[in-house]
Amino acid sequence: MERYVITVTIFCAVITRISCCDIVKLTFPSGFKIGTASAAYQVEGAWNISDKGENIWDHWTHNHPEYIRDGRNGDVACNSYYKYKEDVALIKSIGFDFYRFSVSWSRVLPTGFTNVISEDGLQYYKNLTAELVANGIEPVVTIYHWDHPQVIEEMGGWTNELIVDWFVAYARVLFEALGGSVKRWITMNEPNSFCTDGYEDTVNAPGKVITGIGKYLCAHNVLKAHAKTYRMYDEEFRDAQGGKLGIVLPIITYLPYNSSYTEAAEVAFQFVTGWLAHPLYFGDYPEIMKTRVALVSKSQGYPRSRLPEFSDEWIAIINGTNDYFGFNHYTSRLVYDDPDEELGIYNSDNGLIVTVDPSWPLGGSTWFYIYAAGFGELFRQIRDEYSNPPVWVMENGISDADGVDDYDRINYFYEYVREMLIAIKRDGCNVEGYAVWSIMDNFEWSAGYTERFGITYVEFDDADTNRTAKLSQTWWTKVLSKRKLQSVPTSTYTRTRLPWQK
Ligand code: BGC
Repeated sequence: MERYVITVTIFCAVITRISCCDIVKLTFPSGFKIGTASAAYQVEGAWNISDKGENIWDHWTHNHPEYIRDGRNGDVACNSYYKYKEDVALIKSIGFDFYRFSVSWSRVLPTGFTNVISEDGLQYYKNLTAELVANGIEPVVTIYHWDHPQVIEEMGGWTNELIVDWFVAYARVLFEALGGSVKRWITMNEPNSFCTDGYEDTVNAPGKVITGIGKYLCAHNVLKAHAKTYRMYDEEFRDAQGGKLGIVLPIITYLPYNSSYTEAAEVAFQFVTGWLAHPLYFGDYPEIMKTRVALVSKSQGYPRSRLPEFSDEWIAIINGTNDYFGFNHYTSRLVYDDPDEELGIYNSDNGLIVTVDPSWPLGGSTWFYIYAAGFGELFRQIRDEYSNPPVWVMENGISDADGVDDYDRINYFYEYVREMLIAIKRDGCNVEGYAVWSIMDNFEWSAGYTERFGITYVEFDDADTNRTAKLSQTWWTKVLSKRKLQSVPTSTYTRTRLPWQK
C-alpha cells in the first residue's frame, strides 16, 4: 500500500512538470452536471396565447422595432411553447443532465399579480417540467429572465420598491406549483445587464434612460426581491422541497491592461460582480463602490450618493442568501485607470477605461471577444473572493451569424471548458455545474435573429421553425457520452468582422 502511495506521488509529481492538461485529463469530475439553457421570451413564442398578459419585451419590440437590429420580435421565436416535447427529446438525445429554462411572469400571472393565476400558463410549465423529469433531465428554473409584466413597468418596474413584494408573490406561485420537481432555482438572470441596459439605456426593455441612477435603484430592489424570496422559501418551502436558490450574475473577466493596473482590475471586479455579490455574501455593497459613487455624485452636485443605502435590517435580510454562486460568462476585458482623473475629471463611477486586446478573436456579437484564459481566471477570482463557494456556470457559449458548420463554436467550447476543468482540478475551484448557451438559436434581444448562439440551427423563416443539428451539437453529444472533452476539428478561429462589428 505504502509503495503504491509513493509510486502515485512520484507519478503525480512527474505529470505536474508536463502540463496542466495532462493532470486534468480533460475529463469531468464524477457528479459534475452538464446542462443547457434558454429563456422564455427568447424561445417560447405564443406571445398572446390563452390569457397571457403583455410583458415588457412584447411591448418594447412591438412599439420600438427600431431598437432591434432586424426589427423583429419574440412573437413566434422558436415556437417552444408548442414544441416543448421536441425540445426535451433533443436535450435528451444530446445527453444533457439538466435544462435551464425561465418562466414568463405574465404568462402565469396575466395581470402581473396573484389575483389571476393563468391555468393554461401554469400548465405549460408543469408540462415542461414533467416532460423533463420523465426523461431523466433535471429542470433548473429561472423565475425571472428580463420579461416582467408591462403593467408593472407602468408603475416603475424595477425602480419601484413595491416590486419586491410583487416578485415574492409571483415566486411563491412557482414554488407551490413546481417545487415538488424543481430543486434548483434562479431568482433572476443577470440583474447587472437588465438594470444597466434597461434603466440607463435603450439596449434592453424597458429602455428608460435614467442616467447614473436607474441601474443602482433597479439593482437595489433586485437584491431586496431576491433576498425576500430566499427568506420566504426558507420559511415556507425549504423543509418540504429541499431546493437550492441563487441569483445569476453576468460576469465579464476584468484583467489588468498591464502589471501596473492590478488594482484597476480589482475595482472593475467589485463594480460589476461585487455590486450584486458582495451584499449577498457580506451584507452590503463593496466599500470601493460606496466611496467612489459618493465621490463622483458629489462632484456632479448631487446632495447624496446615487448609490442607495441599505438599512441594517435589510443588510441582515440580504446577507447569506445565495446557496450557490451562479454566473454567465462569455468574454473578457482589459482595464486601466482613467488618466482624466488626475485632472479632477470623473468620466465614470469606477474611474476606469475598459478595452480589449486586439489579438483576441471575435465572436459574432458587437461585444464578443474570445479569451478562454479569462474564464479560468474568473473561477480563481470567485474562489478567493467568496471563500470557494459552490459554483454553477449557468450560461457559456458563442455567437455567429449563420450556418451549421460551426467550427469556431466547437473550438470556443473546447478552450473555455478546458480552462474550467483546470480551475477545478488544478486550482481546487468548487465548480458543480455548467450550462451551454444555448440549446438552439433564439431571439437574441436587441440583435433580433441576426446573432445565433445555438448548438442547434433554427430556421426562423420557416413556419415550423425547423431545427437542424450544428457540428457543435454532435461534438457535445460525444463529450457527454464520454464525460471528457473531445478533440476539435480546427484550433484556429475563422470569424471575420460582421457588418455590426466596427
Ligand atoms: C443572457 C441571454 C443572452 C446571452 C447572449 C446573457 O446575457 O442571459 O439571454 O442571450 O447572454 O447575449
